[in-house]
Amino acid sequence: MTDTLKPDLAETGAVEETEPPRPHAEPQGSATFRVWRGDRSGGRFVDYRTAVSPGMVVLDAVHQIQAEQANDLAVRWNCKAGKCGSCSAEVNGQPKLMCMTRLSELPLDQPVTVEPMRSFPPIKDLVTDVSWNFRVKTRIAPFTPRPPDAPDGTWRIAQSDVDRVQEFRKCIECFLCQDVCHVLRDHHLHEEFIGPRFLVYVAALEMHPLDTGDRVEALRRAHGIGYCNITKCCTKVCPEHITITDNAIIPLKERVVDQFFDPLGKLLKVFSRREQP
Ligand code: SF4
Ligand code: SF4
Ligand code: FES
Repeated sequence: MTDTLKPDLAETGAVEETEPPRPHAEPQGSATFRVWRGDRSGGRFVDYRTAVSPGMVVLDAVHQIQAEQANDLAVRWNCKAGKCGSCSAEVNGQPKLMCMTRLSELPLDQPVTVEPMRSFPPIKDLVTDVSWNFRVKTRIAPFTPRPPDAPDGTWRIAQSDVDRVQEFRKCIECFLCQDVCHVLRDHHLHEEFIGPRFLVYVAALEMHPLDTGDRVEALRRAHGIGYCNITKCCTKVCPEHITITDNAIIPLKERVVDQFFDPLGKLLKVFSRREQP
C-alpha cells in the first residue's frame, strides 16, 4: 500500500539508532568534548577537556565548558528535564536531548562530539533556526470541533477515542524526528514535506473524536505524505516514545489511499451518495 506513494528517493542516509545505549562506567576524572563552533557562514569542531562526575549529562558538560573555557558558546535549553524540547543536538552523531543524555551512556575514552541539528540552519554553535517548523504548523487546518452534544455545551466521547490521540499530545516539539528524517535532512524537501512531527500533529487532529476537519487531500498534495517511505528513523529518536510511524503516519497513509487510490471505495461512495434522499 505504501509503495503506491513511495517517491523515488535514495534509501535513507539518516542517522539511525538501532541499539539501546550501552552502559559505561559512571563518569569520573575528565573527558574531551568535541563541540561544533560556528554560524551560518561555516564552522569547525573545537576540543574541550573538562572534569566529569557521576550523574552528569551532556548539557552539564556543555554548561561547564561554557562557564570555564568558552563564555561565548551558544546553547539553547530551558527545563533540563526533557520536557521543553529546547536542547536538541547531535551527540556522537545521534539526535538527542542533551539534558537527557547521560555521560554514562557514552564511551568517554574518546571525544564526545556535540553538534547542532543538521536539518535546520545553524544560528550560532549548538543553536539552530527551527522557525520553519512553526511556519509549517500554520499551514495545517486547525481543530474544528462539532457542536456540543448537550445543551450545557459539553460533549460525550468514548474513552477509547480519547486514549487513541493522547499519545500524540506528548510531543514536546524537540524536532529530533524532523532532524533525522532523510526527506528533510538529505533531500531538503522542506517546501514539499511537513515532516514526522507535523504528521503526528495532523494525526492528533484527524483522529480527534470531536474534530470535523478533513486534511486528507492536503496530506497528499500540500503536506507531501507520499515522501515518507516508513523508514521509522523518526520513531527511534523520539524522546517521548511516540510511535510516530505505526500509530500516526501509517493510518494517515491509509486514509489517503482509501480516498484517492481505492476504486471500490470510490464506487461505494458514489452509490451511497445516490441513495441519500
Ligand atoms: S518514517 Fe519518519 S523518518 Fe522515515 S521517511 Fe517517514 S517521516 Fe521520515
Ligand atoms: S514527535 Fe517526538 S521527536 Fe518529534 S518533535 Fe515530538 S517529541 Fe520530538
Ligand atoms: S532543556 Fe528542556 S528538554 Fe532539554
